[in-house]
Amino acid sequence: MEIKSVILAAGKGTRMKSETPKVLHKIFEKPLLGYVLDNVKNIVNESFVIVGHHAQEVTEYVEKNYNTAKTVLQSPQLGTGHAVSMVCPLIESFEGQVIILCGDTPLITEATLKKFVEYHNSNNSDLTVMSTIFENPANYGRIIRENDNSLKCIVEEKDATTEQKAVKEVNAGIYCLNWKKIKPAFSQLTSNNAQGEYYLTDIIAWGKKNNLNVNAYILENSDEIYGINSRSNLAAATKIINERKLNSLMDNGVTIVDPASTWISEDTEIGADTVIYPSTYIEGKNKIGKNCKIGPCAHLRGDVEIADNCKIGNFVEVKKAKISNNTNAGHLSYIGDAELGSHVNIGAGTITANYDPISKTKSKTILKDNVKIGSNTVLVAPVEIGEGTNIGAGSVITKNIGKWALGITRAPLRIIENWVKNKV
Ligand code: UD1
Ligand code: CA
Repeated sequence: MEIKSVILAAGKGTRMKSETPKVLHKIFEKPLLGYVLDNVKNIVNESFVIVGHHAQEVTEYVEKNYNTAKTVLQSPQLGTGHAVSMVCPLIESFEGQVIILCGDTPLITEATLKKFVEYHNSNNSDLTVMSTIFENPANYGRIIRENDNSLKCIVEEKDATTEQKAVKEVNAGIYCLNWKKIKPAFSQLTSNNAQGEYYLTDIIAWGKKNNLNVNAYILENSDEIYGINSRSNLAAATKIINERKLNSLMDNGVTIVDPASTWISEDTEIGADTVIYPSTYIEGKNKIGKNCKIGPCAHLRGDVEIADNCKIGNFVEVKKAKISNNTNAGHLSYIGDAELGSHVNIGAGTITANYDPISKTKSKTILKDNVKIGSNTVLVAPVEIGEGTNIGAGSVITKNIGKWALGITRAPLRIIENWVKNKV
């Protein structure tokens, strides 16, 4: 059956206290919305992202990064139910299923979403809502059940009685709908509640009233539906994403010396027997090979490809670089917009000067196999150093150099005997 998703991303995110729309706040350089879109992309044929607050910025992000997603404007924003109703005219005659998710819930996994859809199908459900049990359910909608344990409705915190507030089963904000059956609900929602909004959650009671098959899928790992409403939620979610990543890397043969001080983005692949030393921060999309040593205190900023048996040591920053086998950059260096061959050695304090502030452009540094760069060298890009060439320590290299040569720009050493003695 064809499946589409609707991702709600039009809300203001007041509690973030930010000029940036909530769903574009980042975890490891990837916006929250990107996590949600990535986690549904293998399940659905098409996604609709509902935009409103800062619509232009969110639309630009979606258009640039996701070609199977479309944005739909919701203006003004009258609630989550109103948000979903924006897609009604676009999928008028759609006969498949619609999964609804929130753009501020980045921890949901593809595996869980698959199980959720399977549950919906195997129960012949018309509407399935995802729920979970929270010891502290504050701020979430509560799942209210009948005496026979079947679903009755969802009540928002602000509309709940004291008794309802004590319910620990909460609404995850993720739904699967047989579109044809549930679509009529969207023209019948009312805003008769504490917030004066059209609540999406009211489709549960609507479905029950219309004798449809309405079910809840109870999620065991409640971490996955953690919603981001504040900066402290953002920090907590970052920690969860990081822990998941470190555990999966360790399961696959990567040594993480100190998980507590190591940060690695979801989109980083690392080969077996590589060791990641403490205080290393790896963001963006990267691929690191086998048997490498990274850190302590290394910073990989994305678009980095490192082959096998390489060493990126302390206080080395690498960005947009391709590094071949057995190459080392041991200490205090910056490697950006670069291509390094195999068996290259980068001396301490080497900088690829990739940025020209006048033209505001970045240029590339290419070091062929077996190049050895002496300490404290500045490679002023664009520049290419041929195979086997050595660069003397302290050089500023502004021109290309061929194979097996020595490049050196060093003021001659002067020794003035007794200079200090004559001063005193
Ligand atoms: C919502 C649910 C609540 C659930 C919780 C799970 C409703 C009424 N409540 O509450 O039951 O426990 O999510 O995280 O649905 N949005 C729009 N347009 C709008 C309003 C909101 O696109 O007009 C978007 C927001 O950008 C956000 C999502 O919908 O991504 C959820 O809205 P939010 O205000 O965060 O709802 P909650 O109070 O968290
Ligand atoms: Ca929320």
